[in-house]
Amino acid sequence: MTKSCRWILILLLNAFTSDVSWALDNGLALTPPMGWMSWLRFLCSYRCDLDPENCISERLFIQIADRMAEDGYLDAGYNYLSIDDCWMEMSRDANNRLQADAKRFPSGMKALADYVHSKRLKLGLYLDIGVKTCAGYPGSHGFIDLDAQTMADWGVDMIKFDGCHANLTDYARDFPAMARALNKTGRPIVYSCQWPMYAKYFGGEVNYTAIAKTCNMFRALTDIYINYHSVESMILYWGSNPYNFSSVVGPGSWNDPDVLTIGNSGLSEKQEKVQMAMWAIMVSPMLMSNDLRNVKKSSRDILLNKNVIAINQDPLGIQGTRYLQSGSISVWQKPVLPRGSIAIAIMSTANNGNPILTEYSLSSLPTVRPDQIYEIFEVFEMKSLGLFMPYQIIKVYVEATGVVLLKAVPTNPQNTDL
Ligand SMILES: *[C@@H]1O[C@H](CO)[C@@H](O)[C@H](O)[C@H]1NC(C)=O
Ligand SMILES: *[C@@H]1O[C@H](CO)[C@@H](O)[C@H](O)[C@H]1NC(C)=O
Ligand SMILES: *[C@@H]1O[C@H](CO)[C@@H](O)[C@H](O)[C@H]1NC(C)=O
Ligand SMILES: *[C@@H]1O[C@H](CO)[C@@H](O)[C@H](O)[C@H]1NC(C)=O
Repeated sequence: MTKSCRWILILLLNAFTSDVSWALDNGLALTPPMGWMSWLRFLCSYRCDLDPENCISERLFIQIADRMAEDGYLDAGYNYLSIDDCWMEMSRDANNRLQADAKRFPSGMKALADYVHSKRLKLGLYLDIGVKTCAGYPGSHGFIDLDAQTMADWGVDMIKFDGCHANLTDYARDFPAMARALNKTGRPIVYSCQWPMYAKYFGGEVNYTAIAKTCNMFRALTDIYINYHSVESMILYWGSNPYNFSSVVGPGSWNDPDVLTIGNSGLSEKQEKVQMAMWAIMVSPMLMSNDLRNVKKSSRDILLNKNVIAINQDPLGIQGTRYLQSGSISVWQKPVLPRGSIAIAIMSTANNGNPILTEYSLSSLPTVRPDQIYEIFEVFEMKSLGLFMPYQIIKVYVEATGVVLLKAVPTNPQNTDL
């Protein structure tokens, strides 16, 4: 992209988002970051002697990079390949710099970054704010500036900053210190923080205004697991909107309910659609954590569904909210482009039984214009359900632990002044 092209894009994005002064100002993550992350699927598997195919190593990440680039994930927008804990040597080098495990990353991290970049992907790495990482590798306590510079020197494009082996004083001081250190390197690096999650764990105050100003994405909850209960509990938490997240989420700073487990073995196909649809509605970062070398076709189709991705990546960047809850059915809405359009998710938390017939009209939505006619689409297939006046009843079946994702598009956009 030429420079002037980029400026026009930035101006356009700024026009959509009247005020981004509340978000981290590094020009990054103007839509939720997308990519792949190692932890949920590969954990801290460091025994390459026992499991060479699946251990945390340059071999694994080169294979993942190839799959991302060649199997359509990169083209769909998944461009960050992010390595979680367990990539380091157990000690720093003579100059106190972090070093990648020499046996598992024999070419070094700079070479891996170069390889990743040659595939048009970006590299993410993991650091921890404390004296040690969660898995016991060297932490960044006392080395924030040096570690930020090391990341920049290697060509890292995103860091996840974890919170093990530290306390509330460290969090308040060093999550912002890392933001400043990254900025000082001059390299654009997406900054992902575990700040609220750890602050909450220690009973500290969680100031999301400060967090959004500091981090491009922030984790409020514990790790997600490869099962539906875990996925659903994340959705229920954001649905209850205990803090007014709408006020701190948007271009530049996103809530992170952790990775997509789609493509692993824990979710049925309809449940995988729930995670995909709801991460889109919640404008959550879409980092897959799966074995891209072995993803079944139905999961891949869900991950690559461009209609759902478009809702997640919508330039307005407005977080959807749950505005209706009745029995096991909840309804979520999120304003999207083109102007006046609304993405709607109808989700069922019933965990057994038949599909539930829901009857529903647009008139209950906060942003619906009574004088407007909407065309309603089912989003996964982008199939039109027809034209609807706001008061007209839409009938859809929602499967147990399933979702129906709709998009209502005004047929006469001049009529909308949203
Ligand atoms: C917090 O931890 C740091 C080391 O990480 C330590 O130096 C400091 O004394 C601790 N502060 C409190 C209040 O525990
Ligand atoms: C550093 O911060 C300034 C102002 O807050 C911002 O304009 C700039 O883009 C940032 N640079 C990087 C590399 O993050
Ligand atoms: C939260 O952080 C913001 C931005 O740093 C600050 O202006 C505000 O006073 C903080 N709120 C509280 C309750 O500490
Ligand atoms: C939540 O934040 C949004 C965006 O800042 C604001 O429009 C809305 O009024 C807030 N809602 C509440 C209940 O504070």
